[in-house]
Amino acid sequence: MKPAGISGIYKEGICERQIDELAMSSKNKNIRDLYRGINDFKRGYQPRSNSVKDENGDLLADSHSILNRLKNYFSQLLNVHRVNYVRQLEIHTAESLVPDSSPFEVESAIAKLKSLSHTLMLVPNLHWIVIEDAESPSSLVGKLLKNSGIAYTHLTAATPKQWKLREKESNWKKPRGVLQRNTALQWIRNNLKADVAQGVIYFADDDNSYGLEVFEEMRDTQMVSVWPVGLAGGLMVEMPVLDPKTGHVTGWNSAWRPERPFPVDMAGFAINLSHFLKHPEAKFSFNVESGYQESEILRHLVTQEQLEPKADNCTRVYVWHTRTEAPKLQSEKQLNKKGLKSNAGIEV
Ligand SMILES: *[C@@H]1O[C@H](CO)[C@@H](O)[C@H](O)[C@H]1NC(C)=O
Repeated sequence: MKPAGISGIYKEGICERQIDELAMSSKNKNIRDLYRGINDFKRGYQPRSNSVKDENGDLLADSHSILNRLKNYFSQLLNVHRVNYVRQLEIHTAESLVPDSSPFEVESAIAKLKSLSHTLMLVPNLHWIVIEDAESPSSLVGKLLKNSGIAYTHLTAATPKQWKLREKESNWKKPRGVLQRNTALQWIRNNLKADVAQGVIYFADDDNSYGLEVFEEMRDTQMVSVWPVGLAGGLMVEMPVLDPKTGHVTGWNSAWRPERPFPVDMAGFAINLSHFLKHPEAKFSFNVESGYQESEILRHLVTQEQLEPKADNCTRVYVWHTRTEAPKLQSEKQLNKKGLKSNAGIEV
């Protein structure tokens, strides 16, 4: 369930420009509170029980973050003050980098990122780690993050040339987002301590659609929690199969590469932060086959038996793998040939 106040606006197609104008009017915090207000109103007021105070009585955010490769995001719940870290990691690479993405790619990535940010604005105690696939952080992404009012960390990790997709190459031929997700995981390891940090790590993606329930379901993850993902792996729903007696995960309904140790989508699991920090070997790899990234990190963290099923014993769908096609923009290309553009003076 998405709050009607928001999905309604998107459906009418007024969407981002209007929200953006509002957000730009220096009232971002108020707007965020307003959205939360709508949300509280719709589900009835519930006191927020997940905030934590530190020894000084300051509010700590049991928060949540996301990694971005402009297309891949990563998120986690962290125990941090509401401070915006802006820090750039140096990624050492001997390879020359391919030229910047085309303006179309950048603009559609920004539009999708903005859409995701409007979902994340509704999630309490969230820390968003965004990793930009670039040599230096772009002001577009920086501005978007700042205007969102979400606590965030903006990092960069540029994908070396030989790892980038060539035009027309299917997107599963080369591992996407590995370097960026690992950059975020390393940032977490550098900045947080096991047993002190409280929170949950979740990998989000601007191609997905998130019901707000998924962020609540994952909050009490002890090691690794799992749940169904709609429209994933060529199925209406891809999900863990539970033993009705014990409630433990005994298998999966996956159709695509069901032989994978953990045939689960990136959107279908969350990891306890302290548990992650105690397993330094847990990360993604360039040396695994397509579809094995989830298994690669999870094999260091959990056994199938230990997985914690969420979403009413995996009977509910709160996240959808709604992969969007790259927009075709044929008419825009024709305009461009004439030296014109539909978005002159307007940030889409
Ligand atoms: C989930 O399944 C377990 C074991 O069958 C049961 O004890 C529990 O009540 C179920 N929980 C929900 C929320 O349905």
